[in-house]
Amino acid sequence: MAGKRMKIALVTTEIAPFSKVGGLADVLGALPDQLEGLGCEVTVFTPLYAEIDRRKFHLEPLPQTGALKASVNGREIEYTLSRARKPGTGITVYFIDNDKFYGRRGLYTTETGEAFKDEDERTIFFNRAVLEAIKSLKLKLDVIHCNDFHSGLIPVYLSLEEAENPLFKDTGTVFSVHNLAYQGTFEPEFLSKAGINQEFFQPMSPFEFWGRVNVMKMSLMFSGIISTVSKTYAQEITQSEDYGYGLEGVLNYRRDDLVGILNGIDPDAWNPETDRLIESNFSFRDLSGKVKNRDRVLEEFSLPPGKAPLFGIVSRLVDQKGFDILSEAFEKLMKLNLKFVILGTGQQKYHKLYTELARKYPRKLGVKLLYDNRIAHLIEAGCDFFLMPSKYEPCGLNQMYSLRYGTFPVVRATGGLKDTIQDLSPRGARGNGITFEEYSSQALYQAVQKALRFFGSSAAVEKARRRIMQEDHSWKNSAREYLKMYQRARGRMGMRLTKR
Ligand code: ADP
Ligand code: GLC
Repeated sequence: MAGKRMKIALVTTEIAPFSKVGGLADVLGALPDQLEGLGCEVTVFTPLYAEIDRRKFHLEPLPQTGALKASVNGREIEYTLSRARKPGTGITVYFIDNDKFYGRRGLYTTETGEAFKDEDERTIFFNRAVLEAIKSLKLKLDVIHCNDFHSGLIPVYLSLEEAENPLFKDTGTVFSVHNLAYQGTFEPEFLSKAGINQEFFQPMSPFEFWGRVNVMKMSLMFSGIISTVSKTYAQEITQSEDYGYGLEGVLNYRRDDLVGILNGIDPDAWNPETDRLIESNFSFRDLSGKVKNRDRVLEEFSLPPGKAPLFGIVSRLVDQKGFDILSEAFEKLMKLNLKFVILGTGQQKYHKLYTELARKYPRKLGVKLLYDNRIAHLIEAGCDFFLMPSKYEPCGLNQMYSLRYGTFPVVRATGGLKDTIQDLSPRGARGNGITFEEYSSQALYQAVQKALRFFGSSAAVEKARRRIMQEDHSWKNSAREYLKMYQRARGRMGMRLTKR
């Protein structure tokens, strides 16, 4: 491969700064730039959601491709392509433009969190549309890299329909699991809607999963290489049902082709020295600004000023993130000498509970049920501790953002949290946070107590703070691992089926 630029297409349903719900957007916001830096030729395919600012990002339609068509449930759905430069790079991002599927609010769900009723057709449409776009643009690719089930049908189509197509002769497929709990399961008829032979719906086959179709399962079987976003998560999902969500058998079957590569962070977007979203910039050399951010957080959340240790959370408010054990422990936590701020949106039960708790503890707990990037940055900058008691965490990014801002992560040792956070020694000479193993409210409570004990020594806190702020969690090493994986994936597909 030496001397030849690898041609990679990344397919994603979120990409910062255009569209974002969670960490997937951050990963796609940073990884392509790194790959470009390593000499790859990168293109990205993503939906043109209603909320994407066409003007700000200088989107231009591509009239030369004409109206393209994607076949969904026997109908030919027309769409067009637009493109934009990924800010600060030479990377072209292609946007799939179709009003029926994207002319609405929300990326995956309605505002109240319900799945879109046409999620099946919307998924099929996106995969078909991206594949047709690649064909129409005549992109000769080394690797098509799909992310989560929303783009997981492309490897299936390549194998079932394009095996003879010279355009894809050397093309391999990579499928990345960012979150195994969202698998895309649908009624059996999904297959015929997707243009896949309905007779393939046989028990135990890649096309069947407990009487339904499971897109993630198909992707795992038909992709050349599978990756996930930390080494520990790669192990966890092959080893137990708790983590594998029913796909542990399939993952185990493909374990030789499964790679764990830790996400990095964008050190420019999350930099306390230059961050414009925070109250006062600071660095490991001069920490004085951190206190001002702390005061600002308290003010923002209408909490009284004071020196009690401040714990922050920025998260989707869902079970995955440990809100069940946190909720169980909460009243007890409120008896400790600390303050808490929570920023997030998610399941309605948690909206209700934390609104009530904030009313009950107005001097100790501040809650904002919002999605707000500025407040997210401010919390990272101003808190003393950042809590992530996740039930499972493929990688997690906020713990690494916290380190940059000298905010100690308190995490459950699972997935990427386990790979990035090690326990602090009492004097602060080693480690970068507080971890706990067991998924229980008791273990969480004890970890918070441990954090408070550590906080008792200001010398240890300051020493450790300066140290953790200098840790390198950038993409540098991980991007190289991606490149190696792509070299291995070139021309490689998963399962082959000749019968269509
Ligand atoms: P996940 O992708 O599972 O949600 P990650 O830790 O990988 O978890 O990434 C979450 C990303 O989303 C982070 O960049 C985090 O700051 C951001 N985020 C989550 N909730 C909010 C919110 N309410 N407001 C602003 N940013 C948020
Ligand atoms: C998922 C995971 C998170 C990971 C992110 C990006 O949303 O929940 O742990 O950091 O994807 O890979």
